[in-house]
Amino acid sequence: MKFFVDSANLEVIKNALELGLADGVTTNPTLIAKEGKDFKKIINDICKIVDGPVNVEVLSMDFEGIIKESRELVKWGSNIVIKIPMTRNGLRAVKKLNELKIKTNVTLIFNASQALLAARAGATYVCPFVGRLDDISHNGMDVIHDILHIFSNYDFECEVIAASIRNPLHVLEAARIGADIVTVPSNVIEQMILHPLTDIGIKKFNEDWKKVQNEK
Ligand code: E4P
Repeated sequence: MKFFVDSANLEVIKNALELGLADGVTTNPTLIAKEGKDFKKIINDICKIVDGPVNVEVLSMDFEGIIKESRELVKWGSNIVIKIPMTRNGLRAVKKLNELKIKTNVTLIFNASQALLAARAGATYVCPFVGRLDDISHNGMDVIHDILHIFSNYDFECEVIAASIRNPLHVLEAARIGADIVTVPSNVIEQMILHPLTDIGIKKFNEDWKKVQNEK
């Protein structure tokens, strides 16, 4: 399973790179706004350090606007993927961009029908939001499972990114059911690293080692 970093923060991305967990990056307008810097500069800086796909979201909602924005955004880096919200115009744009050989990620996917249409339109990735579904008492992981099943029935090349990840269990479950990619915020990586028994074990090893050293 590939790990993308769900962040526009350069330090967060660098930390993930050090762990080999930055096969790509997903950003969105909220994540970009959080950085409080120039949009283009943020993306240029990310593209300098990440070899894999850097997903950048369009803000236009009309077909012509999405295409215009996308044509501009792809100039910012050779690994830019255009992230497009799941709408009728969005799907039209995905089809057109696919013809132009521009990679797309259809975002804000909340059910398998939306994912099916996105894949048929030629999306490179679909981004179902697991956490936001869980937040409203729907099982987000069931949606990922459904999408994977449907895509494998027809050998769709479109990859499934488990997004809106809130905790380590989301990552594990996504891995269990075979999501192609999981896009993870930094706090979840930290949670995955830690275990109280690991800390206790390290402390005990050190204490035992010191005891022997003192006896020498
Ligand atoms: C996906 O690419 C989105 O950036 C992200 O996963 C949204 O997550 P959130 O629901 O935590 O905002």
